[in-house]
Amino acid sequence: MACVAHAARPYRGGAVATAYPPASEAALKMLDKGGNAVDAAVAAAFVAAVVGPYHSGVGGGGFALVHDAKSGATRVLDFREVAPKAATRNMFLKDGKVVPGLSTDGVLAVAVPGAVAGYLELLKTHGTLPPSVVLAPAIEAARKGLWVTPRYRSMAEGRLECLRKDPEATRVFLVKNEQGEHVVPPIGHLLRQPDLARTLTSIAKSGPKGFYSGAVAKGIVDTVQAGGGVLTLEDLASYKTRKREPLEGSYRGHRILTMPPPSAGGVAVLQVLGAMEQLRPQGFGFRDPEALHLYVEALRRAYVDRAKYLGDPDFADVPTARLISKGHIADLAGSIDPKKVTSSLALLPQTAGTQGSTLTDKPVTLTPEPERKNTTHISVVDKQGNAVALTATVNYGFGSCVVAKGTGVLLNDEMDDFAAQPGVPNAYGLVTGEPNAIQPGKVPQSSMSPTLVFSKEDPKRVMLAVGSPGGSTIPTTVIQVISNMVDSGMDVARAVNEGRVHHQYLPDELWVDKWGLEPATLSALEAKGHKVRRVDQWGDAEAVFIDPKTGLRFSASDPRNEGLSLGQD
Ligand code: GLY
Repeated sequence: MACVAHAARPYRGGAVATAYPPASEAALKMLDKGGNAVDAAVAAAFVAAVVGPYHSGVGGGGFALVHDAKSGATRVLDFREVAPKAATRNMFLKDGKVVPGLSTDGVLAVAVPGAVAGYLELLKTHGTLPPSVVLAPAIEAARKGLWVTPRYRSMAEGRLECLRKDPEATRVFLVKNEQGEHVVPPIGHLLRQPDLARTLTSIAKSGPKGFYSGAVAKGIVDTVQAGGGVLTLEDLASYKTRKREPLEGSYRGHRILTMPPPSAGGVAVLQVLGAMEQLRPQGFGFRDPEALHLYVEALRRAYVDRAKYLGDPDFADVPTARLISKGHIADLAGSIDPKKVTSSLALLPQTAGTQGSTLTDKPVTLTPEPERKNTTHISVVDKQGNAVALTATVNYGFGSCVVAKGTGVLLNDEMDDFAAQPGVPNAYGLVTGEPNAIQPGKVPQSSMSPTLVFSKEDPKRVMLAVGSPGGSTIPTTVIQVISNMVDSGMDVARAVNEGRVHHQYLPDELWVDKWGLEPATLSALEAKGHKVRRVDQWGDAEAVFIDPKTGLRFSASDPRNEGLSLGQD
């Protein structure tokens, strides 16, 4: 039996948090049918593809951590998109300069989608229910239609011009007003997606072949190639997921497993938590300006490492073990001046692959309202204590804004997560370097950081499954939720709600959540040299906590989005 959770609502059975009520309901349905956390997470992910097309979808990709309570093992699946075989290092440049919009809008931005292969692989390897059962809620949602919500409107407004450029996206996601213009549908409008329902049915019946070959694949490739894109049937047919080893670290006695490269997020999570522990062994004071300064400076340095070293480890020599080693974290922490900021400019010359580029510490154009950012996270635990943290994305809001004709598949713009030109910021203002340059078959660097935190008493029992969307701020969100719980003893609902701060090395600005800090705290940070900027858009953390003492479960969906946390009594 299901109940809606609030801060203090405990569950004895499974629990789930996602950014969409129908996705959480689908997950719970799988648990109620006797399915496990993987069945539930995959059902939620397919529903999310239908009701949150602006965040993630079958035309995108993602990462998942899966913990098996019986064996104590945690597995990692990387089903992120890869660059098509015909992709080239300079494909987004003209006359040596990045062409604005080319890597975010339209067919050239499309990388080979991995979500379908990933979700089905998770089911096959760790699930218990058949695809026909697990995909049923998504097929029904696509047939019945999604209700346009304030979030849908905000995301579609943010990408309106891009959506209008694609006739199929216009037909699927916009409506005509009295003047005959294509506009964002009003709140409460029902958007049916019959083509997507057919594609999902094809996947449920035929498995990966139902997407990566046959009519769906042809629809995708024909659409991309008609627009001048480079994706081929061979790219789709040869797509393969990748099993990876989780990154392991700890925070104040809690074992932590998180996403390894090609995510840059997990490295940042472990580096910054490690630095916080070394710099403040007694614990991190909540909103203590001295501690916040150290935190922000640790973030700055973690993002320098990100820019210098991180990329797809199958293509670049990524020194992951060194980056998360105690020694390196001690160096990173030791370089922080507790009294004042280190200017990002002072760190610039050390950034590999950026010499002669337009690298700058000038403020970037941050996404104004309405929103364009994307990605979604799903956290699930089941009655047995199996846990899944799954983060998925189409990259920017509504991905490339291209819907493959006749399939309902909205295609990603994950090519923008590569360095279009090493040293030039992407849509998130992130600067990456040579290890993240475009190469055929390569996975673009990501911020997605699905993370599991384990009980102090038993390092094989999950205590927290957590993750978030939010582009470059994803690791920040995950770190702050963990610190809120471990350092400040907050319940999980409070921990995801709290205001946040973020620094990503470039631009050299301290981003502060609208309600993040009191004026006195801001002044104390400014006095140390931080250039504060108020930012309204933060990812919604989705988390499930298992109380190590009682075994009770608490789930929390961040009120920054329209999600829902549910559980079983
Ligand atoms: N596309 C967002 C990310 O992977 O970080």
